[in-house]
Amino acid sequence: MAARRFSPSGPLRGSLRAPPDKSISHRAALLGAFGDDRARISRYLDSADTRSSLAAVAALGAGVETRAAADDALDVEIEGFGLRGARAPGAPIDCGNAGTLIRLLAGLLAGQPDRAFTLDGDESLRARPMGRVIDPLRRMGAAVEAAGDVPPLEIEGAALAGIDYRLPVASAQVKSCLLLAGLLAEGSTTVREPAETRDHTERMLAACGIPVRNERSRSLPASPIPGVVAVSCAERLALPPMSVPGDLSSAAFHLVAALIVGGSDVRVEGVGINPTRVGLLGILNRMGAIVEVTEGTHEAGEPTGAIRARSGELAGTIVERAEVGLAIDELPLVGLLGCFAAGRTVVRGAEELRHKESDRIAGVVGALRAMGGEAEATEDGFVVAGTGGLRGGVVDSRGDHRLAMLGAVAGLASAEGVAVEGFGAAAVSYPGFERDLRSLIAG
Ligand code: S3P
Repeated sequence: MAARRFSPSGPLRGSLRAPPDKSISHRAALLGAFGDDRARISRYLDSADTRSSLAAVAALGAGVETRAAADDALDVEIEGFGLRGARAPGAPIDCGNAGTLIRLLAGLLAGQPDRAFTLDGDESLRARPMGRVIDPLRRMGAAVEAAGDVPPLEIEGAALAGIDYRLPVASAQVKSCLLLAGLLAEGSTTVREPAETRDHTERMLAACGIPVRNERSRSLPASPIPGVVAVSCAERLALPPMSVPGDLSSAAFHLVAALIVGGSDVRVEGVGINPTRVGLLGILNRMGAIVEVTEGTHEAGEPTGAIRARSGELAGTIVERAEVGLAIDELPLVGLLGCFAAGRTVVRGAEELRHKESDRIAGVVGALRAMGGEAEATEDGFVVAGTGGLRGGVVDSRGDHRLAMLGAVAGLASAEGVAVEGFGAAAVSYPGFERDLRSLIAG
């Protein structure tokens, strides 16, 4: 497919609504299906990844009805089959590109005794590590197999027993997998995080009437401390009617574009500002970025707000391990910002970036260099030298939605423009991204 070209642009101006949150949409589909009642989810994200979740729960026996809504959203109704009522589909379930889907669903299916399931995905998903969920699920009594610890995952559901488990890596996907398996396990299941990660599962379970014991004690937002989360065996859950808040990780592309395209002033409305997702805002603050957050309402137990960003001088910063989980999907953008900032920008303690939809350490460094940036990969992150701008060039998305969108934003801020190869990957999380970005150019 031909590369998509993003030419240098004048100031970006205007406001737009962030597309619905991907992480929350996946969780809503799963908890709706494993609930007993009819779940009503408005503003469910209409993207390739979250469509995989709807198809997966339909294959397991949930009734799924969708209606198109404005701005990359669907209104969804799900007739649930109950916590222990998943049907064995008799064919592999295709999780597409979605790590969140395969890992969370594995936890729920591990606790369906006397049924067998196969979870598979695309080429990218077939390269992603599953040992991190396989090991603890086996300790809980599940039979889970995967050649080389990558999908396809073969799961034979079993009666599970609760565990007390310290995660070897800070991962909300693994934490969520184990909490969901914990609902089906005898006794109590405790998950200990080495560093704080997003807590959407805990919030949504609480909204479903499931007691979640959270021993996290928050100190200053800038110094997150690890959490300890526990659940007990549950009989049933019911997802209350909910509306999915906007996705900060998607909004971030427009906000960063505004920060690096001279004269810009952009506002994104309805963005989820859950404290376990807003690590980027702290990083931007340290870089001296002009960003204002106006707090709004709560949607589905999640705080939302409007975020305004204006272009201005930026300074390099250091992102340390404790912050990584709170900004994991935005770290590629921190690398891009580093090219426009004075001094060095360093991201460390982020080796997890190598295990995303692509190796994002190699991907970001490769993309920045291809556009004339000065960037070096390290074992656990990257170092970018601020050069005041980027020349432009050709960026390969590597099939990774976030690298595709990064290339587009860089193109607008570059001297000569950027051609993004494999730009179609953006549809994994944000099908309307190009439309929204271009609306700001005209704005
Ligand atoms: C996600 C958690 C993060 C993130 C991913 C979505 C989630 O992954 O990178 O895009 O929905 O829980 P890890 O928890 O594995 O770091």
